[in-house]
Order: sequence, then C-alpha cells, then structure tokens
Amino acid sequence: MERIKVSENVSLSRIIYGMWRLTDDMDTSSSHITKKLEACLEQQITTIDQADIYGGYEAEELLGVSLKESGYRDKLEIVTKCGIIAPVGRFKQSPVKYYDTSKEHIYQSVEHSLKLMNIDYIDLLLLHRPDPFMNPEETGFTLDSLVEQGKVREVGVSNFKPYDFSLLQSFMHKKLVTNQIEISIISNDCFTNGDLAFMQEKRLPIMAWSPLAGGKLFDSDNKFLIDLLKEISNIYNTTPAAIAIAWLLAHPANIMPVMGTNSLTRIRALSKACDINLDKQSWFRIYETAMGHEVP
Ligand SMILES: NC(=O)c1ccc[n+]([C@@H]2O[C@H](COP(=O)([O-])OP(=O)(O)OC[C@H]3O[C@@H](n4cnc5c(N)ncnc54)[C@H](OP(=O)(O)O)[C@@H]3O)[C@@H](O)[C@H]2O)c1
Repeated sequence: MERIKVSENVSLSRIIYGMWRLTDDMDTSSSHITKKLEACLEQQITTIDQADIYGGYEAEELLGVSLKESGYRDKLEIVTKCGIIAPVGRFKQSPVKYYDTSKEHIYQSVEHSLKLMNIDYIDLLLLHRPDPFMNPEETGFTLDSLVEQGKVREVGVSNFKPYDFSLLQSFMHKKLVTNQIEISIISNDCFTNGDLAFMQEKRLPIMAWSPLAGGKLFDSDNKFLIDLLKEISNIYNTTPAAIAIAWLLAHPANIMPVMGTNSLTRIRALSKACDINLDKQSWFRIYETAMGHEVP
C-alpha cells in the first residue's frame, strides 16, 4: 500500500477506511470492529477516518473500546473531525443544528475525542465544514495551539473551498495539510472547478469522501456507467468498484479515497484498486459517460 506523506511527521495510507456508517452496521461489538481494523491492516490500510458527530457522537467511543482491547492504536493513524453541533447524542438539547469553530468548542471536542477513543493524540484533526460564522483568527490560533500541545499531530479541513482554506491558513503558523471533499465518478466537479487545482498548486494531497458515491454509483439509473465499469473491470480482471477507485487513484492530484463499506468481505478487497493502472483513454471514457457528453 502506497503511503502519502502529509507532513514531515505524518504519513497516511493511500486508501483510508472511514467510520461514518459504523453504527449502521448490525454488529457494533468491539470484536467486530476489531475484525474490520484487522481486515484493513492486512492490506496495510492504516488510516481510520472518524468524526465527533459520527453515529450520533457515539462512533468514536465504539472505536475506542476496540482500540483499547486490541492494542492496535500504534499501528494506525486516527483522523477525526469537529465543528458540527447537531441536536443528537450529547448535544440533544441544542435547539438548532449549527457549526461551532470557537476555541472553547474545538478544545472540548478534541478532549472528548481523545477520551472516547482511548488515545493520547489525534494524528490529523479536520474542521468538518466551513463555518459561515468562523472567526479565522480564533480558529487558526486554536488549531496551532492544539499541535503545540501535542494533542493533535497535524491539522486540516473538510468541505472547504479554496477561499475558505486560504482565509484560515492566513491566520495560522502550522500548515493545513489536506482538505477532505466529496469526490467520485459522479461527483466530479472538483476536477474542473478549481478545488483540486488549488490543492495541487499547494502541493497538498486531498482526501475523497464517498468515493463510490455512498453506493449510488451502482444504482440502476447509472446503467451506462455500470456497464462501462463492468466492461473495463473485465479487461483488468477486477471488480467495477475497484475500477471506480482506480479512477480516483489514477489522477495526478494524490487523491486518498476514504471508503465506508461495513461489509468485511468488501473491506478485505479495498486495496485491490491499488493494483490497477488505469489508462488515460479509460479514464476519459468513464468521465464522459458520467457527464453524459464528450469533453468539448
Ligand atoms: N468529510 C465529510 O463531510 C464526509 C462526508 C461523508 C463521508 N465522509 C467519510 O467518507 C467515508 C466514506 O463515505 P461512504 O461510506 O459514503 O463511502 P463509499 O465507499 O462511497 O460508500 C459506501 C457505501 O456504499 C455501499 N456499497 C455498495 N456497493 C459497494 C461496493 N461494491 N463496494 C463498497 N461499498 C459498496 C456500502 O454498502 P455496504 O456497507 O453494504 O458494503 C456503503 O453503504 C465515511 O465513512 C466518512 O469517513 C466524510
């Protein structure tokens, strides 16, 4: 498994396993979560993507029990996020869903994440969403100080546009190391709207959430695309899902897909896409089929 160096200190596995859907699984026992971690580790997938809000603020705790029992923390990089307050779980009294990127909230959220996951530090902390009410000076200072305190090794953002990224970065000493955004064959605006270009200009890798469009890629209304993925997967002797991920890996922007299946069988096959070197013509055939027209 290739590794992507996001900083001098931290590298991530090229394919990342995300735990947004952890509590959708029928089995949320720590032994089952440990099996998922083992299935990842067998393929050298060492990076786990979490967020305080996942599972109604409960997914980090479920992972934490597994980390404690398995002792796998030192084999993994833990990414987590903060900044969204939704009226569920520990915030169920909140009268409204909102974003909070204040110093107080970020500190509290990080303390919760550390405690719930039974870990001493977070490898990479991301602000989950751009906050329309953000005070960039306060938020930037807070992220810098969390790194200085050793609670967080690196910081980044998620769902930020280039202007949000630049604004926050302009108030910080530490470099933001990545942006996690939605990218898949059918969520492909970032290839031309400047989101990827901005990160490439900054020489920064990007994390892709829902790289299979949350499974929608395989819905029957995408028949032309599915047929094409099947055709190409036959040539490469692999699966349509592996081709969909290989399509992201083939792009020069160092995209790190964050995959979210709950199936142990599918987790065990996550790294298959890394063996595929998708050719440029196939890349464009897939892109044009997804757009429904040729490039001009
Ligand atoms: N930063 C953000 O705002 C943000 C937002 C959303 C997600 N994320 C991150 O991205 C991660 C991945 O998101 P995601 O779960 O939507 O990603 P995904 O890998 O695109 O979708 C996984 C979903 O697709 C289904 N699926 C259908 N066919 C599949 C196949 N052949 N192979 C694999 N899965 C298949 C899975 O079902 P089964 O479980 O039955 O296999 C699962 O429900 C999350 O866990 C989270 O860490 C971040």
